[in-house]
Amino acid sequence: MAKRIAILTGGGDCPGLNAVIRAVARRSFQRRHEVVGVREGWRGLVEDQLEPLGSREISGLLPRGGTILGTTRTNPYKLDGGVERVLETFGRARLDALVAVGGEDTLGVATRLHHEQGFPVVGVPKTIDNDLAATDYTFGFDTAVFIATEAIDRLHTTAESHNRVMVVEVMGRHTGWIAVMSGIAGGADVILIPEQPISIDEACDDIRRRHERGKDFSIVVVSEGYELEGLADRGEQDQFGHVRLSQRGVGEALAHEIEERTGFESRVTVLGHVQRGGSPTPRDRVLATRFGLKAADLAHEGLFGRMAALQGDRIVDVPLAEATAELKTVPPEWYDVARAFFG
Ligand code: F6P
Repeated sequence: MAKRIAILTGGGDCPGLNAVIRAVARRSFQRRHEVVGVREGWRGLVEDQLEPLGSREISGLLPRGGTILGTTRTNPYKLDGGVERVLETFGRARLDALVAVGGEDTLGVATRLHHEQGFPVVGVPKTIDNDLAATDYTFGFDTAVFIATEAIDRLHTTAESHNRVMVVEVMGRHTGWIAVMSGIAGGADVILIPEQPISIDEACDDIRRRHERGKDFSIVVVSEGYELEGLADRGEQDQFGHVRLSQRGVGEALAHEIEERTGFESRVTVLGHVQRGGSPTPRDRVLATRFGLKAADLAHEGLFGRMAALQGDRIVDVPLAEATAELKTVPPEWYDVARAFFG
């Protein structure tokens, strides 16, 4: 029987979202299902902003960055009557299933709605941060790492010309996946992440050791969530209780400390949202496409409360609750790979 399958994208945007939308729609069209786009994450269900998606709307989406549906960090559980309105909109639009594409926050809402309301939802793991459990990788991460690596490569040549220490601040929230991967790929001399808090003294020792070996420039990659003494969270919390970590200014503070302690001239580059913009890498296009097909299958088969996941090279499905139970942090083995090249 033909179904009406809705799809939403929530949280920070990331490259590959449109590729998921395309894959969910294409596979669902093959089954004669209708596909409905929900505008701006959970807000679209709270405020009844839906739009039909046909072949015209999903054409040309594979390489396109961002999300044609828009996204917000709306949390229905934080809004008066928010959950009731989600359920009403869903019922009024005669929807049979929802594909929620998001990270820990968006999928956290999906998990709760499924458990508490029996809501027919399946998940797709999205985030440049790669911090979702139960999947080896999220889509969007590869593109962010690619962009950060390219930036590190570029910073090498200017660092070398001026004999400077270049500090590169990358995103990643409370995990250091982007920092570690781009740092390894870009040949960083020191990498600082929240999970393995080596001190500034140790970092400065590494830089000094390197300079003693005759290298008179260094590249330091720091994750925005690295805990630097004296830095406090600033600004308002979003509806999921997160502050904007970029406002702590860890890169700037670190560059200042390094210059003070070592005497080496230092500069900082904060990559910011460049890491989330533009076209997805081939790897992310393929991963997003495979996730999208799997999510469409789960929705079709009525296997709700599940999430598409990558395990090894296989796309599998796992309980949504497993993906959102805890953050997937960088294991020590990965940091050891990076550390082998410090100093
Ligand atoms: O979760 C993705 C992410 O890009 C984080 O790495 C970063 O801390 C945060 O979102 C930034 O959020 P915003 O786009 O709201 O500034």
